[in-house]
Amino acid sequence: MMKNYRLYHDDCLKILEEIPENTFDMIFADPPYMLSNGGITCQNGKVVSVNKGKWDESQGFEQDFEFHKRWLSACKRVLKKNGTLWVSGTYHSIYSCGFAMQLLGYHILNDISWFKPNASPNMCCRYFTASHETLIWARKDKKTKHTFNYELMKNGDFSSDFIKKPNTQMRSVWAIGTPKKSEKTFGKHPTQKPLDLLERIILASTNEGDLILDPFMGSATTGVAALKHNRKFVGIEKEKKFVELAEKRLSAIKGGNK
Ligand SMILES: C[S@@+](CC[C@H](N)C(=O)[O-])C[C@H]1O[C@@H](n2cnc3c(N)ncnc32)[C@H](O)[C@@H]1O
Repeated sequence: MMKNYRLYHDDCLKILEEIPENTFDMIFADPPYMLSNGGITCQNGKVVSVNKGKWDESQGFEQDFEFHKRWLSACKRVLKKNGTLWVSGTYHSIYSCGFAMQLLGYHILNDISWFKPNASPNMCCRYFTASHETLIWARKDKKTKHTFNYELMKNGDFSSDFIKKPNTQMRSVWAIGTPKKSEKTFGKHPTQKPLDLLERIILASTNEGDLILDPFMGSATTGVAALKHNRKFVGIEKEKKFVELAEKRLSAIKGGNK
């Protein structure tokens, strides 16, 4: 049986060095947000700590920026010439990633605003409720032609997104709720992405049989979406408990084989 996914339990900076250049058709990266420094938020009506884990602590702007520059540079090397990279984040990290991408010569195609209609309320009532994340979509090389499945984005079924109207161009604001309960049956990741978001990204920017990398895999939402749509997947994650969760999710998919 042909292998369609491979997981690494390690630091992505180390593994990326071992992978040959020009390997991946698309990379989706959801790096640490660097926001776990003692704040509070509201979840299901309760006040909870925003601390996601040690992996999400900031080391200060300069060091965080150096980290983003390092992994973005490593990703550029392993991306195929016509490949594209997606990076997701909040204001804590996305400007730093975007600037590093510009410095490294990525050609930015779009920034997508992922609007969460069911975002948690703001507790202190002194500023607006955070209800979106930004995704930057960029091409490795300015001169090559990248994959964009325009017709599918225009005419596909996105009926659960109240912003997308049938048979109109897909715009850069997407309304997608946070992950459903059914996406957490094997366990939870504190920053798990909704499957609908990753499916849209993969359908838009890859073709069947393409090889997709997620260097900050977490629970492998990217992998689940990839296998569901007949793409191949490589995931890297440094926390053992998340690699185990990812493995459970991926092996439960029909046709998921290592
Ligand atoms: C924002 S979360 C990704 C969540 C994922 N998109 C999902 O849907 O579950 C970032 C993940 O990257 C992992 N991580 C942080 N630094 C890493 C590194 N240097 N190498 C590999 N994984 C790392 C963290 O343990 C965390 O699980």
